[in-house]
Amino acid sequence: MDKFENKKRAVKNATIVLVGLMGSGKSSVARSLAFRLHLDAIDTDALVESAAGMSIPEIFAGAGESEFRRLESEQLKAALNGSGVIATGGGIVTQSENRALLQDARAKGVLIVYLRASAAELAQRIRLQPGKRPLIDGEKILNLEQTQKRVEELLAQRAPLYESVASVVIDTGSLTPADVADQIAQLYSTKISQL
Ligand code: S3P
Repeated sequence: MDKFENKKRAVKNATIVLVGLMGSGKSSVARSLAFRLHLDAIDTDALVESAAGMSIPEIFAGAGESEFRRLESEQLKAALNGSGVIATGGGIVTQSENRALLQDARAKGVLIVYLRASAAELAQRIRLQPGKRPLIDGEKILNLEQTQKRVEELLAQRAPLYESVASVVIDTGSLTPADVADQIAQLYSTKISQL
């Protein structure tokens, strides 16, 4: 197969995975990036909800976190078998099975982007959608300070895990989802041009 065919195939079958904590903008960036690259936007949370026929808070309340994690691993595996821009749930990296899947995908050339943000920024964004994240405000709606403290705990546990699966880290800071999508699209086109 010639070089041009290789590139065409790589672009058509592209898979890009976004990881990071809740509130890091994965779903919005995935939609924006997928639009730019003419790919499907895939969201593992949405896939889990449609497979279960329930919202995430309902799954956590009814079947528990372990059932949610089981469904999430199934959907990640299925998504990695296809193509598109995949926004993952913030806890995807807590399961060693998922980390192995992501590291394997990265070794095969899948671009895995860790969207990094500070606990203060994440807490502010999470507070815009109260009650949506059982691991933050499953028991009761937290104020900004309590939310930030919880995010700091999760970030301390998970930052090394996001780093262990990522090909690249983007500091989202005050960037909009469209800005982040632009940065990833540029990284991606550099990668394709090297094929
Ligand atoms: C979770 C993050 C959520 C969702 C679930 C658990 C987590 O996804 O998967 O509530 O463990 O951090 P988002 O990161 O899309 O909010």
